[in-house]
Amino acid sequence: MEAKNDRMAWLTGGTAQCDHPAKQAERPYRLVLLGAPGVGKGTQAELLCENLGTCHLSTGDIFRAAKAQNPCDRTPALTAALEYMRKGELVPDETVLAMVAERGSCLRCLGGFLLDGFPRTVAQAEALEKMMIGQNLKLDGVLSYELPLEKVVARLSGRRTCAGCKAVFHVEARPPKVEGVCDHCGGKLYQREDDRPEAIRVRMQAYEQSTAPLAAFYKQRKLLVSISAEGSPEEIFERTLKTLGTVK
Ligand code: AP5
Repeated sequence: MEAKNDRMAWLTGGTAQCDHPAKQAERPYRLVLLGAPGVGKGTQAELLCENLGTCHLSTGDIFRAAKAQNPCDRTPALTAALEYMRKGELVPDETVLAMVAERGSCLRCLGGFLLDGFPRTVAQAEALEKMMIGQNLKLDGVLSYELPLEKVVARLSGRRTCAGCKAVFHVEARPPKVEGVCDHCGGKLYQREDDRPEAIRVRMQAYEQSTAPLAAFYKQRKLLVSISAEGSPEEIFERTLKTLGTVK
């Protein structure tokens, strides 16, 4: 079996390079995944990466990787960012944009990319647009996953994440083969701090206020494609693949 892209360049930034970089894809898709926290973006990203060879660029994963670092190795901006995240609030645009700019070369990944959790505000979307133009690249589409709020909250409450490879499970809908253990790397599964009920409420508010307006931004640019996030991950994945047949 081929080694999975470890995303070191994205997760670590600076001069870090991927040990197993994505190969040149026949069709390198460059996509943004939109949708409320817990709708299933990360789960779809995993399935899409396996199928298309794209790289999963999640800003939330950068913060969670930083959390695992020695606190002395973190910048003050990163330490502050982790506190925003713990409470479920958005990290300030300035911090997020500096972090993404430092990883700008990941936008040229030979496998293409799936941006997950970025952009999250109109200011971030404008900055991404500039970055893409600067690198002579073009977004192929923005996939917006839609699901009623009560179902989203149920997905978040049962989520378990691998501390090692960041794979995502659900205690009922997508349980691991062995309870508490990652199917892929044998890592320990944990419940995210921001999946507590009080943090979930704050995240939903932040989504409504800052992230939902992005749909209008991308609709205006004719990039937005809505996808129902009802049903099993595999059903949504099939729906997504069909949708990809219609982008560009
Ligand atoms: P981030 O990591 O981006 O989290 P999020 O957007 O809140 O999204 P989630 O990861 O919670 O959900 P998901 O849609 O990926 O769902 P998943 O696939 O895991 O951001 C975290 C925080 O970082 C933010 O709150 C903020 O503080 C900060 N941050 C990050 N980026 C930022 C930015 N750009 N600007 C400012 N701040 C930023 O699925 C959820 C669960 O449901 C899982 O258990 C899964 O197994 C299950 N599931 C998935 N699909 C299905 C299905 N079809 N049926 C049943 N269960 C399912």
